[in-house]
Amino acid sequence: MPVRLTPAQAAAIADDYRARLQQCVPWSPAVKWEPKLNFIGDTYEVLELFPGVVASDDPVDRLQPGQFVDSPGGRFRYCVRLHRAAHPLLTWWGAEVGTVVFDSDVIIPALYQAKEDLQPGEPRWNEAPWMSLTPGEILTLRPGTRLAKGKVVIAGLGLGHQLIEVCKRLQVKRVVVVEIDQELVDWMMPALRPHLRKPVDVIVGDAFTEIPKLTADIALVDTFPGYGDGFRVVEQLARRSPGIKRFWGWGTSEMTGLGQRER
Ligand SMILES: C[S@@+](CC[C@H](N)C(=O)[O-])C[C@H]1O[C@@H](n2cnc3c(N)ncnc32)[C@H](O)[C@@H]1O
Repeated sequence: MPVRLTPAQAAAIADDYRARLQQCVPWSPAVKWEPKLNFIGDTYEVLELFPGVVASDDPVDRLQPGQFVDSPGGRFRYCVRLHRAAHPLLTWWGAEVGTVVFDSDVIIPALYQAKEDLQPGEPRWNEAPWMSLTPGEILTLRPGTRLAKGKVVIAGLGLGHQLIEVCKRLQVKRVVVVEIDQELVDWMMPALRPHLRKPVDVIVGDAFTEIPKLTADIALVDTFPGYGDGFRVVEQLARRSPGIKRFWGWGTSEMTGLGQRER
C-alpha cells in the first residue's frame, strides 16, 4: 500500500530538503558516509567513458539516438542519467540507508543489461543498472579499493570504475579482472584501457569458479546486483581460495568487518 503523508509531514520533509540544499559541501569520494549527504552539484565530476553521450532523465527504454551507446551485440547499454537538483538518491552503509542531494543537476553514467527472458511488450532493459556512478556506489566501493596492493583480482567489470581506481594506487603492481560476460569485456575494455595505469589481464568466466584457481594479494568481489548480497558468498569463496591472501566483497566490509579479515 502506498504511504500517505499528512500535509504536516509533507511540509516537514520539504523543509528538511530546503535546509539541506543550503548546507551543500564540495563532493569528494573520500567523504565519510552519513545518512544525509548534501553536495554542490558543480563539484560532482565523474568519468564519461563514452564521451559525447547526451544526458537524459527519460526512461532507459525511451532514449533517443545520441543518448546511449549499445554494445555491438546489443545486450548492454551505456547511458548518462540526468539527475535533477534536490531529488534524493539512495545511499547505504552496512545496515543503514541514507540519501544524497545535490544543489544543481548532475550527470550519472550508468550501465544496463538487456533482460535475458524478455516477454512481448516488456521494457528491454533491466530496471536496475549493473553500475551507475552515484555517490552511493562510489563511497561503498572505496573501502575495497583502499585495500588493494600488489597483485589484485577484481571480480565483476561493470563500468570499470573500481578497476580504474585500483590501477591509480601506487601499491598495486598488476590486476586480473574476472568477468563472466565476453560481450561486456570485448566492448568495455578498449574504452577502459587508456584509463588503466597498470598491467591488466582479463579472464572471462565465472568468478566463483575462476578465483579459487588464482593467486593474489587481494580479491575485490563485486558481482552482485544488490548491496550486501555477497555477504556469506564471499566468505565461502575465501575458504575455497587458498591462493588469495585477503578478500573484500561489495557491501560486506561495512556490515561486519569479516570481509576484511586477514587470512
Ligand atoms: C555490479 S557490476 C560491477 C561494477 C564494478 N564494481 C564497477 O566498479 O564498475 C557486476 C559485474 O559482475 C559481472 N558478473 C556477474 N556475475 C558474475 C560472476 N559470477 N562472475 C564474474 N562476473 C560476474 C556482471 O556481468 C557485471 O559486469
